[in-house]
Amino acid sequence: MTENKPEHILVAVAWPYASAEIHVGNITGSYLPADIFARFHRLNGNKVLMVSGSDSHGTPITIKSDQEGITPEELYKRFHKGFLDLFNKLGISYDLFTSTHTKNHTDVSQTLFLALKENGYLYSEKQKQFYSEEEKRFLPDRYIEGTCYICGFESARGDQCDNCGSLLEANELINPRTKTGGSTPILKETEHFFLDLGKLEPDVVEFLEARQEYLRSNVTRQSLGQIKANPLHGRPITRDLDWGVPVPVEGWEGKCLYVWFEAVIGYISAAIEWSAINGTPDAWKDWWYNPEAKAYYFIGKDNIPFHAVIWPAQLKGAGEWFGKLFEEEENKFLTLPYDVPANEFMNMEDKKISGSQNWGVWGLDFLSRYDPDSLRFYLTINMPETRDSNWDWDDFVARNNNQLVAAWGNLANRVLSFAHKNWDGLVPVPGDLTELDKGILSTVEAGFDSVGSLIKDVKLRAALTEAIRITSEVNKYLDTTAPWSAIKENKETAGTILYTAMQCIDYLKLMFAPFLPQSSSKLHEYLGYDYPLFGDLAQKEIKDELSDHVVQQYQPTELGNIWKVAKLEPGKEFSKPSPLFTKYDPKIADEERERLA
Ligand code: MF3
Ligand code: ZN
Repeated sequence: MTENKPEHILVAVAWPYASAEIHVGNITGSYLPADIFARFHRLNGNKVLMVSGSDSHGTPITIKSDQEGITPEELYKRFHKGFLDLFNKLGISYDLFTSTHTKNHTDVSQTLFLALKENGYLYSEKQKQFYSEEEKRFLPDRYIEGTCYICGFESARGDQCDNCGSLLEANELINPRTKTGGSTPILKETEHFFLDLGKLEPDVVEFLEARQEYLRSNVTRQSLGQIKANPLHGRPITRDLDWGVPVPVEGWEGKCLYVWFEAVIGYISAAIEWSAINGTPDAWKDWWYNPEAKAYYFIGKDNIPFHAVIWPAQLKGAGEWFGKLFEEEENKFLTLPYDVPANEFMNMEDKKISGSQNWGVWGLDFLSRYDPDSLRFYLTINMPETRDSNWDWDDFVARNNNQLVAAWGNLANRVLSFAHKNWDGLVPVPGDLTELDKGILSTVEAGFDSVGSLIKDVKLRAALTEAIRITSEVNKYLDTTAPWSAIKENKETAGTILYTAMQCIDYLKLMFAPFLPQSSSKLHEYLGYDYPLFGDLAQKEIKDELSDHVVQQYQPTELGNIWKVAKLEPGKEFSKPSPLFTKYDPKIADEERERLA
């Protein structure tokens, strides 16, 4: 095993609002790319910490619980359970998937708020906010709709325009109306804390410029680009609400931290919670107070300003004060994002995915009929990394059957079955390798670098395409060498070919493993390895002062760097394989399209 110094990689994944089911667009937008990236780095022996949780506060939760006539707490717990179930089945390997409704998260969020206040980056101001006279309460931004004052889009939300991506001030919207009843809200005075983004702008710009070389263009456009057009200014970070993290200042009872301000702090609080659960309370600092650690944020494009502008400002602004508290020494700063590989959106059969119109494919529903690795394959090959992509059921079946099953699954199954049957369940012992054999081995081995460096750069779609290209080289090699007929002439020649092909398959297994962990693990077992490729996903009940909550935890197998470690021993026992994937009947495409409407 190669001994490189392991890197500390924080894989920070968007926190889904616990008020709607997760669909394929969400999966390909952030959870799946994060998991592929995390698994790759684990195979490389790096120290990965992948965290997220249910975003359980905020108006998406309260709107929905109002509609259902239940408490926000009941609502988020129900969706949270569904998320855990989905992530388990799909193999999304969070080291910790928690929620924002915990005592720990409350404490950490309040501390970060106070750090910003102490450091002079918060100010309070009286402000007019929308108020509903009927409902006798202030209306959060999301309860308001109106025309975007930047681009003119007519259905902009109070907090953000879905057309131009700009962050908005709800009380500047043109033609405001309430989302609940459509009535016109009035503006009423209230006092709030503001994050002084104007003061932090130089830090944010410096942060972005230092990363400009490799940030995706959608991210640069929605951060640096926007700042140049519209300089940053203070934004209110508290709200008149009772569901959320209370503002930790006397006299501010009845107000909470704004959900976006507080949810992103979850990336730190989840790391702290993970450390506590594992009985190593300081472990989180290896990622958060380590200048060499790299933090990657996997999010959808609608989350860009909150991660690429405001979150770095929060981290910079909290700075030393926050650091002193946890380090008891001087001058420690929280790790800033290294990269924010935001994805665009995936459409469904050429139309925008919509929960209310039931236009979409929902994760758990999909998995009740099809295999997890089929989903991971299609969502990766079609990942909206640089532009919106489209889910097409015919294309799903075609790619599953032609690429996943025919090119990769059949290759593995055919070679292993044939070798198993004709060499008594032992890896064939090769004779001298021909140039052809050596050639294919080095072609495949080169994939560790080509596939690996694409994954490192978070070009996952290209990385998987590269692995498939290499697979078809192995298929060509077998067409040329035809061991099925060679065995009739000369068993040793056939054995050499089979050994070579099995070795190629063993290499490819590793290259496919981050994308297709379940089938790769099975194949790994068939090949006779006695250690698991990855670890276990487990669910745990955690006692918490706010809510007994259930978390998902990943228990890694500590193997060091095994990215290139695949050496089949000639003469060693292996198992008779079963097919790795399922071929789907093309007529399911019509059935599924029917389900959509
Ligand atoms: N809950 C938000 C959404 O689904 C995303 C939150 S990412 C976070 O859009 F880090 F801010 F929590
Ligand atoms: Zn707009």
